[in-house]
Amino acid sequence: MTLSHGASNKISSQNTVETRLKIKRLLEPTLIVSPSAGNDVVKGLTQTPKSLPPRYFYDDFGSELFEQICALSEYYLTRTETAILQQYASEIAQITGSCELVELGSGSSTKTRILLDAYHQFGYSLRYLPIDVSAGMLESSALALLEDYPTLQVQALAGTYEMALTQLEPTQLPTRMICFIGSSLGNLNSQECDVFFSQMTDALEVGEYFLLGVDLQKPKHLLEAAYNDSQGVTAAFNLNMLQHLNWRFEGNFDTTQFEHWAFYNETENQIEMHLKSVRSHTFQLRSLNLNVHFEAGETILTEISRKFDVNSIQHELKAKGLVPQRVWTDSNQWFALLLCQLQSLTAV
Ligand code: AVJ
Repeated sequence: MTLSHGASNKISSQNTVETRLKIKRLLEPTLIVSPSAGNDVVKGLTQTPKSLPPRYFYDDFGSELFEQICALSEYYLTRTETAILQQYASEIAQITGSCELVELGSGSSTKTRILLDAYHQFGYSLRYLPIDVSAGMLESSALALLEDYPTLQVQALAGTYEMALTQLEPTQLPTRMICFIGSSLGNLNSQECDVFFSQMTDALEVGEYFLLGVDLQKPKHLLEAAYNDSQGVTAAFNLNMLQHLNWRFEGNFDTTQFEHWAFYNETENQIEMHLKSVRSHTFQLRSLNLNVHFEAGETILTEISRKFDVNSIQHELKAKGLVPQRVWTDSNQWFALLLCQLQSLTAV
């Protein structure tokens, strides 16, 4: 064991996968350690109407289901954003130059490869810091990237955006770009969005970049089809949140007693995803010491997915000092990618 290890170290230079990968866990992979773990679940399930934070979709299985959603014909978001990235990645790389790429909610890092290729093509040195709540997904995608990009350095963080944004160390490279693509911003209501932009401003130095991908407003039937796919993958993804709570908090939710329910709220410009209880019953989450009663037909809001107006979002960003330098969309104007740069507010 020791021998073969030493031998392989000698043969391969410093560029082994192991030396180029660091994974830091900010979230515990199993069970509860911090006394505050699950407080958000208790809060959401004891209020009326009930709700749960969307980050509980993403245990390792949920992250896999989300990958399947991205490949569905009804789910236009991923392929539309991918096409925009393919068209403009080299422009992005040219604007920022050599940089540290931080990605919030990196998942499988599939779209990120388009950016990595562009930086690679210009010979820019690059460090990649993926951040995701699913440690399993983080590790498997980081290993795959290291195989495919022989000089890439990866420092992965298993944790929430909030945790990660406050833990970033100053970059060694000329600049940094924080990527928040895939329209995950849509999960935040307007007040949370405001807080998030402030956290972004705090995490960046003046002159550094923020790359944001957002889904845009469009006819209701297109939106509703994307969240009610014919194969039922989105329904499985939604229901998996209860399975996740079952294993993480010793729960006994019976997923056959809930139905997936998603619709577009035109007043709020958002998709709402709910789990609807088919009958009256009580479940418990043992490690949270919580009993939850449901009436027949009662719902849990598991996600909002806001659909943006490209002009309003630009104004909001600018007001925070995150000044859009370029805005790209597809020919249908279904999705937008905004490259922003932090400017000091006094200079505006
Ligand atoms: C990852 C938040 C962008 O809102 O479209 C996909 C999650 N939910 N299908 C979205 C999701 C249902 C997705 N985001």
